[in-house]
Amino acid sequence: MNERTLSIIKPDGVRKGLIGEVIRRYEQEGLKIVAMKMVHLNKAEAKGFYAVHRGKPFFESLTVFMSSGPSVVMVLEGEKAIERHRQIMGATDPQQADEGTIRRMYADTIEQNIVHGSDSTETAAFEIPYFFSSSEIVG
Ligand code: CMP
Repeated sequence: MNERTLSIIKPDGVRKGLIGEVIRRYEQEGLKIVAMKMVHLNKAEAKGFYAVHRGKPFFESLTVFMSSGPSVVMVLEGEKAIERHRQIMGATDPQQADEGTIRRMYADTIEQNIVHGSDSTETAAFEIPYFFSSSEIVG
């Protein structure tokens, strides 16, 4: 099934100069980029995006981190895009992530884990319009 998913190269990924590397991985794996922009989230925007995690012990720190610098947000499209993107990223905790995944290779901590990806079609349906209007998505 052709799906769309949201990708964020988080502030640590941008600071580490990994924009090109992450995009290269997506293109190499055949995930098509159908929307892309750079954003610097403010705290309220980060809280809104991660509202599902409100109340968790890491919520405050996560939203400080996500508003600490620019991120690159993208919509990826392809067959089983959500699952394939999650495989490319690896597990949330880089220490649990498989060899060769983006998080295993580049992430420092479970919080500062380089990339975000939607975890279901329902999540993607919330996350994609959080950043993109339909006219900003091509194809
Ligand atoms: P992400 O895939 O963007 O989804 C939620 C984010 O919360 C996650 O990546 C991490 O950045 C962060 N996160 C999840 N679990 C923890 C945790 N136990 N401690 C700190 N940050 C976490």
